[in-house]
Amino acid sequence: MQTRVLTIETPETFERALSAAAELLKQGEVVAVPTETVYGLAANAFSAAAVRKIYQVKGRPAANPIIVHIASLDMALECVQGWPEPARILARLFWPGPLTMVLPKSAAIPSVVTAGGRTVGVRWPLHPFMQELIRRCGFPLAAPSANQATQLSPTTADHVQQSLGGKIPLIIDAGAANVGIESTVVDLSESSVRVLRPGMISAAQIETALGQRLRPAPDPTGALKSPGLLRKHYSPRARLHIIRWRDDQELSEAARATAAPFDRIAVLAHDKVPQLATFKRVAVIPFDPEAYARALYHELHQADAAGVELILVEMPPPGPAWDGIRDRLSRASADG
Ligand code: TXA
Ligand code: MG
Repeated sequence: MQTRVLTIETPETFERALSAAAELLKQGEVVAVPTETVYGLAANAFSAAAVRKIYQVKGRPAANPIIVHIASLDMALECVQGWPEPARILARLFWPGPLTMVLPKSAAIPSVVTAGGRTVGVRWPLHPFMQELIRRCGFPLAAPSANQATQLSPTTADHVQQSLGGKIPLIIDAGAANVGIESTVVDLSESSVRVLRPGMISAAQIETALGQRLRPAPDPTGALKSPGLLRKHYSPRARLHIIRWRDDQELSEAARATAAPFDRIAVLAHDKVPQLATFKRVAVIPFDPEAYARALYHELHQADAAGVELILVEMPPPGPAWDGIRDRLSRASADG
């Protein structure tokens, strides 16, 4: 299949991309679309046949539910049963934005979207193209990240092309994603609220907004609670170790202990920037959670493209603002 790529830099190209994407989606096709978190692979959330194509194209395990993207409260209400007070509060504060709320699903959502489960994750994305597209379609869009299952999420149209090129009819290129890691997923379907997947909206922000303590989040490297919270997920091809070093000497020692040759190692630093020129790549990510999240997947994709076998990542700091970043790094370092 020939994959078209359409950019949206001018009002004319925006409109052309919008009609092309809407037309394909109305025909039951899948389209790769920009969101503020990562690129998504979208299909009509009300059509079981269309959503099945997402699973086929991605090689996604059938037990992994897909997030439904909406662009109005009315549309959210079509997808869920009931709208409890916590949903009202979080929607008011964080929508549109990188927050997915899990609630009991309505009959309009086919069970293939929810992997057979009784709940659905809904999110109102911030990206203007995605919002316009949902409105133009008139139905919500089911969209997981636009990559082969278990690979890194794409934050540029190029990443999508590398992973799904030739398998989908259209990619909308809106440049680099602004948030850079996937949305926070919060479970509101049970009496006590909990974060199933940390993200840039932190558990601490949600606790403050709701005025209640959350149940502890599942350990990303432990057993699964949410289907899809697979340990080995969000992973580069290279092995990834998260370590600390005080200086170049400690970093060299740590690198030598891995047995990987230095010219096959990439280093991701944010604080103790190595001066050594012996590694294949040294990238410096800003020491700021928003900027770090924006750069993280790009740097991991770059390390893979450079063909390294090992990525040494400087341990990010503690604190709720870094929860999403630590979560993705710890999954990327899991070896199961
Ligand atoms: O930022 C994002 O959320 C991106 C963009 C495209 O919106 N989407 C995304 O989708 O990351 P995906 O499929 O890669 O991750 C969806 C995850 C699932 O793996 C699962 O962990 C959780 O969201 N999820 C979705 N629906 C759920 C449900 N009904 N119950 C529990 N967890 C759910
Ligand atoms: Mg994904």
